[in-house]
Amino acid sequence: MGEKHVVRFEPVGIEIEVDSDQTILRAAAEQGVQLMHGCKEGQCAACKSFVLEGEDIELDSYSTFALPDYEKEEGQTLLCRAHPFEDLTIELLNYDEEIIRSGLPLRTGTVEVVAIEPVTHDMRHLVVKLIEPEEIKFFPGQYMDFQVPGTDDTRSFSMANTPNRDGHFEFVIKVYPDGLFSQHLATRLQVGDRLAVEAPFGTFTLRESRTCDLVFVGGGAGMAPMLGLLRSMADRGVERKVTFYYGARTRRDLCFEKELVALSEQLADFTFVPALSEPSDDDDWTGETGLITDVVARREPSLAGRDAYVCGPPPMVDAAIVTLTRLGCSEGHIFYDKFTTTGEPEG
Ligand SMILES: Cc1cc2nc3c(=O)[nH]c(=O)nc-3n(C[C@H](O)[C@H](O)[C@H](O)COP(=O)(O)OP(=O)(O)OC[C@H]3O[C@@H](n4cnc5c(N)ncnc54)[C@H](O)[C@@H]3O)c2cc1C
Ligand code: FES
Repeated sequence: MGEKHVVRFEPVGIEIEVDSDQTILRAAAEQGVQLMHGCKEGQCAACKSFVLEGEDIELDSYSTFALPDYEKEEGQTLLCRAHPFEDLTIELLNYDEEIIRSGLPLRTGTVEVVAIEPVTHDMRHLVVKLIEPEEIKFFPGQYMDFQVPGTDDTRSFSMANTPNRDGHFEFVIKVYPDGLFSQHLATRLQVGDRLAVEAPFGTFTLRESRTCDLVFVGGGAGMAPMLGLLRSMADRGVERKVTFYYGARTRRDLCFEKELVALSEQLADFTFVPALSEPSDDDDWTGETGLITDVVARREPSLAGRDAYVCGPPPMVDAAIVTLTRLGCSEGHIFYDKFTTTGEPEG
């Protein structure tokens, strides 16, 4: 245990105590304060904030893409990497009144593998059930951290399902040739194996106080939280219009097509628009082609007044934010999760 310091967040006026051994983001989550975050590893910049008072802060390693040196010198910091060594006042640059006080308790636990099925040539559908504790609550769109067996490393995976009584969790996981966790999943993990987990994390959740039409943009394993959000909207009879643009390379990279077609029967006004960026001659594809951002721009003359949810590989998310903003979405109403991979953080 280090020393405890008071960290005050403005403009929301919330104060928490943070042990200097902990990051500010972690301490806030443990105290039910849900700050904006994505990777928790200093890579995505979702937690970037401004230090108004105090300067004795130590940062764990982070990417200078997320926090360039000039921003750090101006007083910006990454709450997922920042340890306080004195009392601080932080201005949240990116916060959401609707979720900041709705943090669910973080729980560590053990899950058991129920099924591992391929959904494409390089993506697996993993289903696990909770062994302990009795319950881990989450909002659709949030994610769980898995400890990689035999290591201290963790990897984050978004729930594709909605909260349920039988304690099942579903994931869509991309397999990388040298991926620490994903290779374990693809080659060694068996039904019945147990894994250590912690959840819930993330702020990629449906802002329920809003009623406007929705546009979802996803790619690759970004399908997972989108499914979670759509399934939850269908279960609860949410009637907002939603268009889901999903980018894949070729037809063999598409998944959950049948379920998405079925969801258009259940949801009041749902359109699924898959697009292939590199269709092969064998694909016999008559749907949309090109980069998913170009497809959105082609089909949507204006997105003013819509809320957007974007999820997938970081370059796709960055490109989508630019396109959506250009088409009239307000920046504050573009919600996203970047699936950063761990690798070696730069800087
Ligand atoms: C908030 C959040 C939610 C996430 N949700 C999901 C999810 O639902 N599903 C999901 O699949 N992932 C998700 N991720 C990513 C996930 O956490 C892991 O980072 C990812 O699965 C890689 O882990 P790994 O251990 O298999 O690979 P690692 O051992 O971490 O290796 C990955 C490294 O290898 C590189 N690499 C290896 N092979 C390739 C290749 N063929 N092409 C390009 N790069 C390669 C990667 O760029 C990276 O640097 C999420 C990440 C975040 C931050
Ligand atoms: S940089 Fe802090 S959550 Fe991603």
